[in-house]
Amino acid sequence: MRVLGIETSCDETAAAVVAGAGLVLSNVIHSQVALHAAYGGVVPELASRDHLRHGVPVVREALARAGLSFAELDGIAVTCRPGLAGALLVGTQLAHGLAWATGLPLVGVDHLVGHLSAAYLDFSQVGGRAPERAPELPFIGLIASGGHTSIYRVDSLEPEGTREIGGTRDDAAGEAYDKVAKLLGLGYPGGPVIDRLAAEGDARAISLAKPMPQRASLEFSFSGLKTQVARWVDEHGRPGDDATLRDLCAAFQARVVDSLLSKTFRAAQREQVSCVVLGGGVAANRELRSRAERLARERGVHLTLPPLEACTDNAAMIALAGVAPLRRGEDHRGALQVSTQSSLPRVTRKGRGIRRG
Ligand code: KG4
Ligand code: ZN
Repeated sequence: MRVLGIETSCDETAAAVVAGAGLVLSNVIHSQVALHAAYGGVVPELASRDHLRHGVPVVREALARAGLSFAELDGIAVTCRPGLAGALLVGTQLAHGLAWATGLPLVGVDHLVGHLSAAYLDFSQVGGRAPERAPELPFIGLIASGGHTSIYRVDSLEPEGTREIGGTRDDAAGEAYDKVAKLLGLGYPGGPVIDRLAAEGDARAISLAKPMPQRASLEFSFSGLKTQVARWVDEHGRPGDDATLRDLCAAFQARVVDSLLSKTFRAAQREQVSCVVLGGGVAANRELRSRAERLARERGVHLTLPPLEACTDNAAMIALAGVAPLRRGEDHRGALQVSTQSSLPRVTRKGRGIRRG
């Protein structure tokens, strides 16, 4: 089965063709980072307009690189939730138009199910790598991105088999990176810059309190940590490009990584699951990756760290998440709705999203 995936939920216009169990035949991404950089975050209306400009060329490029025509595809999968409403509408309308014109079946995919599927993608035909070991089900999946930070127990790669067991009460981890970078004058997106600066800093030089330290809780909170950095800047002034800036980035990052990893590994222990998968843009963080590898070795956990191109937003993960519903014969043409919320119910008492029960 060959599926065209389309992703426009936030600030990447992406299209990809994926075969069967996850072989990526093409993976095209047009990033809007430069467009939004001046504003320190994504401007929804600008995002929608840019998706409109780049949607068709990106799809054309994905088919050309895969060397396939629409007649050689078996279906189309498009992100329909969660995300920016306008941005999602551009992608789903584009996918609808293509599906009606070609007669291909169309399925709407939850972006978070896409992130959890990304660990199975094999990029070896497009210049990347195959997964070292595909995770076995059930696994504990951490998605830490700009819009979401949650821990899931994944029994099957479908919304019905995926259960949130912890999440953030306020900001997502990537959102905290982006806000801290903004207040330190480091530009957007903040994750990669802070990642680089933190590697040269000393986390012990500046003391920041642990967010949500309750041992049993699988909930996160990152807005207080961001406020602590803001207070530090109010008190000491914004550091220049010096050792203090690096120490502050290191202290912030150490707290974020502590929190993400301690809770994810605690979840694995609590659920008695031996496989852990990281995903979402923050899973590209080097300190998070190296500390996760160390912890996994110490605890005998099978860790899957997808390659960087699988962690950040892409359409290959959406195409793969569409394979199962397309195989079952689903076709959402004429019935596809977009939503700003995930279909995966939330357990966290506070924060955004639909609650369970
Ligand atoms: O998954 P993603 O591409 O888009 C969303 O669905 O949000 O994640 C983007 C987020 C941004 O907040 C960005 O700052 C963060 O991921 N990010 C990182 C790194 N690379 C990207 N955060 C920490 N370290 C990184 N190396
Ligand atoms: Zn994402």
